[in-house]
Amino acid sequence: MNVDIKKVSKTNRGKLEKLLQLYLHELSYYFPADYDPNTCTYKYNIDKYFEDNYAYFITVDNNICGFILLDDNKNDNYEISEIFVVNNYKFKKIGESAVTKMFNKYRGNWTIKAVPNSPLAESFWTKTINNYTNGNYKSDHTGKYNRAEFYFNN
Ligand SMILES: CC(C)(COP(=O)(O)OP(=O)(O)OC[C@H]1O[C@@H](n2cnc3c(N)ncnc32)[C@H](O)[C@@H]1OP(=O)(O)O)[C@@H](O)C(=O)NCCC(=O)NCCS
Repeated sequence: MNVDIKKVSKTNRGKLEKLLQLYLHELSYYFPADYDPNTCTYKYNIDKYFEDNYAYFITVDNNICGFILLDDNKNDNYEISEIFVVNNYKFKKIGESAVTKMFNKYRGNWTIKAVPNSPLAESFWTKTINNYTNGNYKSDHTGKYNRAEFYFNN
Protein backbone atom coordinates (compact mmCIF):
# COMPACT_ATOMS: atom_id res chain seq x y z
CA MET A 1 0.00 0.00 0.00
CA ASN A 2 1.72 3.15 -1.23
CA VAL A 3 0.42 6.32 0.45
CA ASP A 4 1.33 9.59 -1.22
CA ILE A 5 0.36 13.27 -1.38
CA LYS A 6 -0.16 15.00 -4.74
CA LYS A 7 -0.73 18.70 -5.25
CA VAL A 8 -4.24 19.38 -6.63
CA SER A 9 -4.06 21.07 -10.03
CA LYS A 10 -6.69 23.53 -11.19
CA THR A 11 -8.05 20.91 -13.59
CA ASN A 12 -8.74 18.59 -10.62
CA ARG A 13 -10.47 21.23 -8.51
CA GLY A 14 -13.86 19.57 -9.14
CA LYS A 15 -12.71 16.32 -7.49
CA LEU A 16 -11.50 18.23 -4.46
CA GLU A 17 -14.85 20.01 -4.23
CA LYS A 18 -16.67 16.65 -4.20
CA LEU A 19 -14.46 15.35 -1.37
CA LEU A 20 -14.94 18.64 0.47
CA GLN A 21 -18.70 18.10 0.53
CA LEU A 22 -18.24 14.66 2.14
CA TYR A 23 -15.84 16.19 4.66
CA LEU A 24 -18.13 19.07 5.59
CA HIS A 25 -21.07 16.74 5.97
CA GLU A 26 -19.07 14.60 8.39
CA LEU A 27 -17.88 17.66 10.27
CA SER A 28 -21.40 19.01 10.62
CA TYR A 29 -21.93 16.43 13.39
CA TYR A 30 -19.56 18.47 15.53
CA PHE A 31 -19.53 21.94 14.11
CA PRO A 32 -22.13 24.23 12.49
CA ALA A 33 -21.12 23.78 8.83
CA ASP A 34 -22.67 26.35 6.49
CA TYR A 35 -25.31 24.40 4.49
CA ASP A 36 -27.05 26.14 1.58
CA PRO A 37 -30.54 24.63 1.00
CA ASN A 38 -30.77 26.25 -2.43
CA THR A 39 -27.75 24.47 -3.88
CA CYS A 40 -27.87 21.53 -1.39
CA THR A 41 -24.18 21.99 -0.70
CA TYR A 42 -22.04 23.16 2.18
CA LYS A 43 -20.31 26.48 1.59
CA TYR A 44 -16.52 26.59 1.69
CA ASN A 45 -14.33 28.84 -0.41
CA ILE A 46 -11.19 27.04 -1.59
CA ASP A 47 -9.94 29.75 -3.96
CA LYS A 48 -6.91 30.49 -1.81
CA TYR A 49 -5.68 26.87 -2.19
CA PHE A 50 -5.15 27.58 -5.87
CA GLU A 51 -3.27 30.80 -5.20
CA ASP A 52 -0.56 30.97 -2.52
CA ASN A 53 -1.78 28.10 -0.31
CA TYR A 54 -1.94 24.46 -1.35
CA ALA A 55 -4.34 21.57 -1.58
CA TYR A 56 -3.04 18.01 -1.77
CA PHE A 57 -4.88 14.80 -2.58
CA ILE A 58 -4.06 11.82 -0.40
CA THR A 59 -3.58 8.81 -2.67
CA VAL A 60 -3.20 5.10 -2.05
CA ASP A 61 -1.65 3.26 -4.97
CA ASN A 62 -2.56 6.32 -7.08
CA ASN A 63 -6.23 6.20 -6.01
CA ILE A 64 -7.52 9.46 -4.51
CA CYS A 65 -8.95 8.79 -1.06
CA GLY A 66 -8.74 12.13 0.75
CA PHE A 67 -7.15 15.54 0.92
CA ILE A 68 -5.09 17.93 3.00
CA LEU A 69 -5.40 21.73 2.88
CA LEU A 70 -2.16 23.49 3.75
CA ASP A 71 -1.95 27.14 4.75
CA ASP A 72 1.42 28.70 3.97
CA ASN A 73 1.58 31.56 6.47
CA LYS A 74 4.95 32.68 5.03
CA ASN A 75 8.41 32.79 6.63
CA ASP A 76 8.35 29.01 7.16
CA ASN A 77 5.10 29.03 9.16
CA TYR A 78 2.68 26.30 8.12
CA GLU A 79 -0.74 25.14 9.18
CA ILE A 80 -2.88 22.18 8.16
CA SER A 81 -6.36 23.61 8.12
CA GLU A 82 -8.24 20.49 6.96
CA ILE A 83 -7.59 16.78 6.48
CA PHE A 84 -10.01 14.14 5.27
CA VAL A 85 -9.85 10.42 4.50
CA VAL A 86 -13.00 8.79 3.03
CA ASN A 87 -14.64 6.12 5.18
CA ASN A 88 -13.57 3.17 2.97
CA TYR A 89 -9.94 4.01 3.73
CA LYS A 90 -10.09 5.04 7.39
CA PHE A 91 -8.14 3.43 10.27
CA LYS A 92 -5.35 2.13 8.01
CA LYS A 93 -2.73 4.71 9.00
CA ILE A 94 -3.30 6.54 5.71
CA GLY A 95 -4.02 9.88 7.39
CA GLU A 96 -0.94 9.60 9.57
CA SER A 97 1.32 8.58 6.63
CA ALA A 98 0.05 11.46 4.49
CA VAL A 99 0.53 14.02 7.25
CA THR A 100 4.05 12.73 7.92
CA LYS A 101 4.88 13.23 4.22
CA MET A 102 3.51 16.75 4.40
CA PHE A 103 5.56 17.58 7.50
CA ASN A 104 8.71 16.28 5.80
CA LYS A 105 8.02 18.30 2.67
CA TYR A 106 7.60 21.65 4.47
CA ARG A 107 10.08 22.53 7.22
CA GLY A 108 9.52 25.25 9.80
CA ASN A 109 7.00 26.17 12.49
CA TRP A 110 3.81 24.16 12.41
CA THR A 111 0.42 24.94 13.92
CA ILE A 112 -2.38 22.40 13.79
CA LYS A 113 -5.91 23.23 14.89
CA ALA A 114 -8.20 20.26 15.46
CA VAL A 115 -11.85 20.55 14.53
CA PRO A 116 -13.71 21.99 17.52
CA ASN A 117 -15.79 19.60 19.62
CA SER A 118 -14.39 16.50 17.92
CA PRO A 119 -12.59 14.16 20.37
CA LEU A 120 -11.86 11.93 17.35
CA ALA A 121 -9.94 14.63 15.49
CA GLU A 122 -8.12 15.57 18.68
CA SER A 123 -7.15 11.95 19.27
CA PHE A 124 -5.89 11.58 15.67
CA TRP A 125 -3.76 14.73 15.91
CA THR A 126 -2.39 13.93 19.36
CA LYS A 127 -1.20 10.49 18.22
CA THR A 128 0.12 11.64 14.85
CA ILE A 129 2.02 14.67 16.17
CA ASN A 130 3.33 12.79 19.19
CA ASN A 131 4.69 10.04 16.90
CA TYR A 132 6.22 12.52 14.47
CA THR A 133 7.89 14.75 17.07
CA ASN A 134 8.69 12.06 19.66
CA GLY A 135 6.66 14.09 22.11
CA ASN A 136 8.47 17.30 21.27
CA TYR A 137 5.43 19.54 20.78
CA LYS A 138 3.22 21.95 22.70
CA SER A 139 -0.54 21.92 22.84
CA ASP A 140 -3.30 24.09 24.16
CA HIS A 141 -7.08 24.48 24.17
CA THR A 142 -8.16 27.93 23.06
CA GLY A 143 -10.98 30.15 21.86
CA LYS A 144 -14.74 30.08 22.01
CA TYR A 145 -14.87 26.36 21.15
CA ASN A 146 -11.99 25.33 23.41
CA ARG A 147 -10.30 24.00 20.29
CA ALA A 148 -7.19 21.81 20.59
CA GLU A 149 -4.10 23.35 19.01
CA PHE A 150 -0.65 21.83 18.53
CA TYR A 151 2.67 23.56 17.85
CA PHE A 152 6.09 22.22 16.89
CA ASN A 153 9.12 23.01 14.79
CA ASN A 154 10.78 20.59 12.36
C1 LIG B 1 -9.13 12.18 11.14
C2 LIG B 1 -8.89 11.29 9.91
C3 LIG B 1 -8.23 12.12 8.82
C4 LIG B 1 -7.98 10.14 10.32
O1 LIG B 1 -7.61 9.39 9.15
P1 LIG B 1 -7.19 7.86 9.25
O2 LIG B 1 -6.41 7.52 8.03
O3 LIG B 1 -8.38 7.02 9.53
O4 LIG B 1 -6.25 7.87 10.55
P2 LIG B 1 -5.03 6.88 10.89
O5 LIG B 1 -5.44 5.49 10.58
O6 LIG B 1 -3.80 7.39 10.23
O7 LIG B 1 -4.93 7.07 12.48
C5 LIG B 1 -3.77 7.48 13.19
C6 LIG B 1 -4.06 7.37 14.66
O8 LIG B 1 -5.17 8.24 15.00
C7 LIG B 1 -6.23 7.47 15.58
N1 LIG B 1 -7.52 7.87 15.06
C8 LIG B 1 -7.83 8.03 13.75
N2 LIG B 1 -9.13 8.33 13.62
C9 LIG B 1 -9.63 8.31 14.87
C10 LIG B 1 -10.93 8.46 15.39
N3 LIG B 1 -11.98 8.72 14.57
N4 LIG B 1 -11.11 8.36 16.73
C11 LIG B 1 -10.07 8.09 17.54
N5 LIG B 1 -8.81 7.89 17.11
C12 LIG B 1 -8.61 8.01 15.79
C13 LIG B 1 -5.98 6.05 15.10
O9 LIG B 1 -6.56 5.13 16.01
C14 LIG B 1 -4.48 5.96 15.04
O10 LIG B 1 -3.95 5.68 16.32
P3 LIG B 1 -3.40 4.19 16.69
O11 LIG B 1 -2.05 4.12 16.04
O12 LIG B 1 -3.34 4.22 18.16
O13 LIG B 1 -4.38 3.23 16.13
C15 LIG B 1 -10.21 10.69 9.38
O14 LIG B 1 -10.83 9.99 10.42
C16 LIG B 1 -11.18 11.74 8.88
O15 LIG B 1 -11.14 12.12 7.73
N6 LIG B 1 -12.11 12.18 9.75
C17 LIG B 1 -13.13 13.16 9.38
C18 LIG B 1 -12.57 14.53 9.16
C19 LIG B 1 -11.83 15.06 10.38
O16 LIG B 1 -12.29 15.00 11.51
N7 LIG B 1 -10.65 15.62 10.11
C20 LIG B 1 -9.81 16.22 11.11
C21 LIG B 1 -9.95 17.66 10.96
S1 LIG B 1 -8.93 18.56 12.13
